[in-house]
Amino acid sequence: MSVFRLTVRSVVREAEGVLGLLLADPEGADLPPWEPGAHLEVTLPSGAVRHYSLCGDPGDRGAYRLGVLREPAGRGGSEEVHASVGPGTVLGVRGPFNRFPLVPAERYLFVAGGIGITPLLPMVRSLPPGSWSLLYGGRSLASMAYREELAGLPGVTLVPQDTEGLLDLDAALGGLPPSTAVYCCGPEGLLRAVEERWEGALHTERFGAAASDGSEGSSGGFEVELRRSGRTVRVEPGRSLLDAVREVVPGVAYSCEEGWCGTCETKVLAGTPEHHDSVLGEEERAAGTSMMICVGRSRGPRLTLDL
Ligand code: FES
Repeated sequence: MSVFRLTVRSVVREAEGVLGLLLADPEGADLPPWEPGAHLEVTLPSGAVRHYSLCGDPGDRGAYRLGVLREPAGRGGSEEVHASVGPGTVLGVRGPFNRFPLVPAERYLFVAGGIGITPLLPMVRSLPPGSWSLLYGGRSLASMAYREELAGLPGVTLVPQDTEGLLDLDAALGGLPPSTAVYCCGPEGLLRAVEERWEGALHTERFGAAASDGSEGSSGGFEVELRRSGRTVRVEPGRSLLDAVREVVPGVAYSCEEGWCGTCETKVLAGTPEHHDSVLGEEERAAGTSMMICVGRSRGPRLTLDL
């Protein structure tokens, strides 16, 4: 899918630390359609590539709406958006992609932590009232984006941590019929907590921190053979596999570098990968035939990749 250019039409403050961007075609053309859960890959003016969920109305083909949380401890993309993206800024865009689609279900529970509300907002808007409920936790009420929009919808519970503490997941998940589709988006800790408590259908989208497969792996270095390139390189401890691969294959595809976008998925021809991504499902991890090389490593001394 090729990159196209969109212009920032407006920037508004959605909450403390959260900017809302509206992106539109510079000539006013209709934008590619999307469904709730979709995201865009955005190339910022500095060249940094970031992924943002679409949180507007899929019926509005004239603009894409994004919500961007300022993360001072992040890799700089959100800081760039907050400091220097304004009306008229031109951004490179790929997508929309959807790795988090809304599946048909009789009943839904949505659990959002902080900026994780963004993909869930168009989901709840697209469903009939009474078929879903949303539990939305944030640091404080002031930091919770879209709370006014949500206030008008039945089934929404806002839980600001500073006055009400953490989300009561035991109560929310405890009595649910197992046929409920549970969707969760937010920080790793919240996703883990939901995973531990819910055995039914669970749909998650992680931002930032990558997940480990929980196994002991090679904390030391290992060798990686790049079969098609005919080269073998060493991955030293503390260095990513992706970095080592780029030495030999500078054009290798990657984007988030955090194990959640799926761009760097690579076929494993031999060896046992140690997964740290949040893209592959349990069976795919166990099969060990592909891996995200931005965060994955090797469980043995050698790995052979189809690169
Ligand atoms: Fe995104 Fe590896 S670059 S999963």
